[in-house]
Amino acid sequence: MDGAVSLKPQERLAEALASNMDAVNVLIRERMASEHAPRIPEVTAHLVEAGGKRLRPMLTLAAATLCGYPGPFHVHLAATVEFIHTATLLHDDVVDESRQRRGRPTANLLWDNKSSVLVGDYLFARSFQLMTDTGNMRVLRILSDAAATIAEGEVLQLTAAQNLATTEDIYLRVVRGKTAALFSAATEVGGVIAGADETLVRALFEYGDALGIAFQIADDLLDYQGDAAQTGKNVGDDFRERKLTLPVIKAVAQATTEERAFWVRTVEKGKQVDGDLEEALRLMEKYGTLDATREDANAWAATARASILTLPAHPIRDMLHDLADYVVSRLN
Ligand code: IPE
Ligand code: IPE
Ligand code: MG
Ligand code: MG
Repeated sequence: MDGAVSLKPQERLAEALASNMDAVNVLIRERMASEHAPRIPEVTAHLVEAGGKRLRPMLTLAAATLCGYPGPFHVHLAATVEFIHTATLLHDDVVDESRQRRGRPTANLLWDNKSSVLVGDYLFARSFQLMTDTGNMRVLRILSDAAATIAEGEVLQLTAAQNLATTEDIYLRVVRGKTAALFSAATEVGGVIAGADETLVRALFEYGDALGIAFQIADDLLDYQGDAAQTGKNVGDDFRERKLTLPVIKAVAQATTEERAFWVRTVEKGKQVDGDLEEALRLMEKYGTLDATREDANAWAATARASILTLPAHPIRDMLHDLADYVVSRLN
């Protein structure tokens, strides 16, 4: 057990949930197949075989296990959650015109936008089939609500992008929708399928919500501070896409007239030239907005930790507690 100390929280979770995670991966492979359209297994295999952290399905398994659930339907729910996630990634990379995902060229680059959109739809539909296997109306409601909320978050972001009037409030609404909704649904359904009492289910929801927000804020930070070799995504993509994430929103709020003109040209008008990313980073450094953004992520991680500690003592509870710190300090 000595080695366990140096393992990252998500690795410890993966170890604790290994046999169930294996079952989730088997189910994912089974259900991503299609006998009728060869393009589907090509695209899904490309993305699924590239790995991914499998954070959300682990959250579902962890929540259910923590609440004493012996199975088997947490496995279906975990696979459902990963399918929804994978579907949103396919769609998201089209919308963001991204070229790299999980260290590989995106499906939209290797095939085309049409394939990504349609295979994403297929995975969404498969996720609904999977969740009906549980026969539990309440989890169906939670997960279908989450799917709608994610789409809303992505659409809200679409209209907030390139708009310098975007506030931290709007940003938070986007992040809650596009990212935290799936984290909170993932933990909540784990509690619900286990038949846990409402206080526990509520705490699991709160944990997932805060963890998801911390995770996305950290992801937005990594877009400026990360290392492509570790994140598997390109640095500076958000700036090139003219996305107003927290570090930029904070810098715009403090900009001088001249700096504001820079943000109008690069983000609002999209007239970017070489060196603009470096200038954007210089302005973020000047106002310490990357550090301030990290503080915000840390504050959400603290909320997540406080929520999970209201649950009864359990080794998995402690791993979820540590995971909240890790998502902020993570490198990928
Ligand atoms: C990527 O999520 C999408 C965001 C919400 C930032 P992950 O970073 O969990 O993606 P994978 O599944 O590990 O590739
Ligand atoms: C991802 O948002 C959220 C969803 C997939 C719904 P981003 O666009 O910020 O994440 P990355 O950077 O592409 O992973
Ligand atoms: Mg994206
Ligand atoms: Mg996006």
